[in-house]
Amino acid sequence: MTDLPIYPLTEEHKMLRDAARDFAQKEIVPIAAEYDETGEFPHATIKKMGELGFMGIEIPERYGGAGMDALAYVLALEEISKADASHGVVMSVNNSLYCHGILKFGTEEQKKKFLTPIASGKSVGAYSLTEPQSGSDAGTMKSRAARDGDSYVLNGRKSWVTSGPVADYFVVFMMSDPAKKQKGVSAFLVPGNTPGLTRGKKEPKLGIRASATCELTFEDCRIPAENRLGEEGEGFKIAMTVLDAGRIGIATQALGIAEAAYEAARQYATQREAFGQPIGQFQGTGFKLADMKTRIEASRLLIYNAALAKEKAKENDGRYSLEASMAKLFASETAMYVAHQAVQIHGGMGYSRELPVERYFRDAKITEIYEGTSEIQRLVISRLELGK
Ligand code: CAA
Repeated sequence: MTDLPIYPLTEEHKMLRDAARDFAQKEIVPIAAEYDETGEFPHATIKKMGELGFMGIEIPERYGGAGMDALAYVLALEEISKADASHGVVMSVNNSLYCHGILKFGTEEQKKKFLTPIASGKSVGAYSLTEPQSGSDAGTMKSRAARDGDSYVLNGRKSWVTSGPVADYFVVFMMSDPAKKQKGVSAFLVPGNTPGLTRGKKEPKLGIRASATCELTFEDCRIPAENRLGEEGEGFKIAMTVLDAGRIGIATQALGIAEAAYEAARQYATQREAFGQPIGQFQGTGFKLADMKTRIEASRLLIYNAALAKEKAKENDGRYSLEASMAKLFASETAMYVAHQAVQIHGGMGYSRELPVERYFRDAKITEIYEGTSEIQRLVISRLELGK
């Protein structure tokens, strides 16, 4: 990547980025194709990422994290995602969708119990909002959390839970007062071994195949009332606040995929010859590469901007939904565009499983779908600009 001088990268940022790059290139790149092929979860490398402090980058050290800022987080995540988008999403969900919400909304006791093991990378965290009949329209969930003395009893089905098959802890959103619609949603912290919680089969996916995704079923799953995150009825706001952080993570995952695809295409264009010269010398290919590079750098600027907005929001408890949604929208569509062009530049070889370009192409697509589709990002941006 380019060191853009307008962004204040400290020595600490550069050290973390270089450590992530070194680890990713040495330990993830060599195994990425195999894990994509088998669809196995890469337990060993995820564990090492935890030991290196990558699983709770913005979490204070007293809760097991690395105590760094939002820019540090995207710098490290970009390097991991460039090596493999599956490792990237596990890191993103753990940092943003799980840890971030508990740090912001959790009690001191909850932070000790539910944040420290996950931020330190000893355990894996997951986030569970979507249901079979409610994806984009997240406020219409059917699952129910009923208060019963000092407990809540959870019932319902959740879908598309990233890291669901392997997670030790979940943050789960359920309706505790259906009459109040979004204002009746509450958030709960649920250990993965709680009786009444079962995990469905692992979803067979087009891309990010080494990450693990499944449904969750809650059948009279009883948890102590002290596991409620935030106030009763505050769950939808928590889910949305956390998704703003998550969307910066997915934008960064998309940036990593785009960079890997671009670099493969750039190198191929300098080596592959046709009609007596390297194909990059043909304007048709050179201009493709120019557009790819420009969109990648524009994505990076939107992502760094969103990271700095997130950092500012920590001081004034503000929102950065606009910056996060713009970064996710642009970076995910850029990843798809760049991966598509990279396959085209490679010709037949781009379609072959012998090179990683086809994997980048398959991995890129999900970034336009999860944590809010491109259509939802456009809805969020236009509502913030025009009003609802
Ligand atoms: N931060 C804080 N509060 C927010 C907020 C945010 N980003 N967005 C909305 N809210 C608040 C609103 O202010 C409002 O509160 P008030 O009534 O007090 O004003 C309340 O939440 C309801 O907001 P809306 O009226 O805007 O709600 P809506 O029903 O119209 O939905 C939406 C808004 C943007 C479409 C939202 O439903 C949404 O983001 N949908 C997409 C869901 C999504 O991204 N799902 C992905 C799940 S995770 C995943 O993909 C799997 C995985 O494991 C990675």
